[in-house]
Amino acid sequence: MQNNIFLTLFVGQCIVKLQEIDSTNSYLKKLLSNSTPLLDGTVIMAERQFAGRGQKDNIWESEVGKNLTFSIYLKSSFITANHQFELNKVISLGIIDTLQPIIGKACKIKWPNDIYYHDKKIGGILIENVTKGYQLKESVIGIGLNVNQQNFNLLENKASSVSKILQQDYDLEKLLAQICLNIERRYLQLKADKTVILAQDYLQNLYRINELHFFQLDDEQIKGTIKGVNAQGKLIIETEYDTKELDLREVKFIID
Ligand code: BTN
Repeated sequence: MQNNIFLTLFVGQCIVKLQEIDSTNSYLKKLLSNSTPLLDGTVIMAERQFAGRGQKDNIWESEVGKNLTFSIYLKSSFITANHQFELNKVISLGIIDTLQPIIGKACKIKWPNDIYYHDKKIGGILIENVTKGYQLKESVIGIGLNVNQQNFNLLENKASSVSKILQQDYDLEKLLAQICLNIERRYLQLKADKTVILAQDYLQNLYRINELHFFQLDDEQIKGTIKGVNAQGKLIIETEYDTKELDLREVKFIID
């Protein structure tokens, strides 16, 4: 009988399951700051986070026991700090590679690394890197994925889940094992310098690429087309007048 359903070399080979924690990212970061030795690829998952964190200081809410909320520890010291967006590509592609065979091609990466199904969010990624000089030292990769949650209350027209799409529940542990396998595969592509493949696949799966849409900037709305992402991970939007390169705090998608 096979007990270990993680067919990986290292991602998820060491896994810690917590019933309740503030945030799996914060927990991992605390272990790192106490110099607790950790195996590359260690996964910390929680049934309940009472202070789950999202990007831009948002909170991440998730119904207890219904979804995946976990963090992966990676020894990312081969990545230079100015190439850290490669890690965003690796992780979002690893998730997309897993979800598209299950829910279909309408599952896309909303820049920089939200996971969308049509116009609804089903997952989010929070990457927290520790740097040493010009290199990354290690990374905490937090992933929240709506799997078996059915009700999103006020967010009903903004959020969805795998089970809402499939009309049936999906095995959480099986999904976690598949995600770890695909993240590891993409991470090994990065280690092998296959950055052209990662860039192509990232763009191919980017939500709203090459489509004309409205975007909210600080003080104006613009109409433009996503053309790609630059080396720093900024979003390239072409308008009638110019081409802009914008970071996460400078631009918001308008989705109605
Ligand atoms: C976002 O879309 O804003 C990112 C959400 C990331 C949520 C995950 S859940 C597991 C890990 N622990 C956290 O506190 N956040 C990440």
